[in-house]
Amino acid sequence: MGFIPPVTSGTWSIIKVGKQQLVRRRSGISPSVSVWLNMKRVLVVGGSGRLGKRIVRVLVEKEVPVLVGARDPQRAEETVRAYLREAGLSNKGDLQFVAHDLTEPAAVQAEKVFRPHDIDVVIDAAGPRRLTPLEPLSIDFKGNRELIRAACTGPGTAHFILVTALATGRFGWPAGLLNLAYGILFWKRRAELFLIDQVRKTAARTLTQDRVGTETRSTAASGGGIKQFTIVRPSGLERATDNWGDTHALRIHPADTLFKGSVSRLQVAQVCVTAALHPDASRNKIFELTTEEGPLAADLLQLMDRIPSLDVS
Ligand SMILES: NC(=O)c1ccc[n+]([C@@H]2O[C@H](COP(=O)([O-])OP(=O)(O)OC[C@H]3O[C@@H](n4cnc5c(N)ncnc54)[C@H](OP(=O)(O)O)[C@@H]3O)[C@@H](O)[C@H]2O)c1
Repeated sequence: MGFIPPVTSGTWSIIKVGKQQLVRRRSGISPSVSVWLNMKRVLVVGGSGRLGKRIVRVLVEKEVPVLVGARDPQRAEETVRAYLREAGLSNKGDLQFVAHDLTEPAAVQAEKVFRPHDIDVVIDAAGPRRLTPLEPLSIDFKGNRELIRAACTGPGTAHFILVTALATGRFGWPAGLLNLAYGILFWKRRAELFLIDQVRKTAARTLTQDRVGTETRSTAASGGGIKQFTIVRPSGLERATDNWGDTHALRIHPADTLFKGSVSRLQVAQVCVTAALHPDASRNKIFELTTEEGPLAADLLQLMDRIPSLDVS
């Protein structure tokens, strides 16, 4: 994989070691950041959507191999390739498409999507196309839950990045109002909790295996699990266009601290991809995203570094 480090002002060195690449940042943020990258393929769920397309675009710009999951992969391929052409990226990228429906049981998703492909990172940007009474329950919770279960099977998944929304962890205004839309924030929160729980279980199993030094039958049957999560909670996406970032700087806040704001889908995509490429800076974190008029005060990695990790032990 031809790796180009993402948005940062620091200086980088890339050292090849066999199949792996050691990417070391020499300046910028904490000296502990030394990231081993051996990325296979990133699965973008909802890759045909407005946010999903932008995530694919940023991954392609970084030359990361991508698998786009969509209910109609042929239509998704037409949409995504047309979008990449518009962005001047027509001949770039190692891009594959797969038929994927979140509403199918985990075993089916595992068989169709995870087993035939070498996926180690999932970026899940799916959401209901139309807000009908059952979509938040069936897509935002049950669909994501089955996907997370599927990602745990086989060798497991190194990193699961889930896009939800601001205020999923809050009650009162404005969450209460948004929840009138068929409980969408409530169901998104349930998916977040399910993901965190799977990462916690994977960590506990790893600890037990380390202690006992052997794998029990139950752990072997449950697959490799999910090693880390990042939850990305954008504020409103409908106002900001792709050039919003020229005048509005991204701000990343910790969990349950933001109430409102706007951020562009392109800015959210940049956060998701940077999180994928920098697992140390995004490990077990919840990022709440908004923007403020003015220049960016710090680079993306510095913003991520300031957010605390959740304890999953
Ligand atoms: N709008 C906002 O202001 C706002 C704010 C914060 C967070 N969000 C969240 O951000 C995320 C992205 O939003 P967006 O507006 O960019 O999305 P979007 O354009 O509506 O795209 C939704 C994507 O989800 C996929 N999807 C829907 N049902 C599926 C299923 N059963 N199986 C597989 N894929 C399925 C769609 O695929 P198909 O092509 O197959 O339909 C599509 O690619 C959503 O989770 C949304 O709730 C939105």
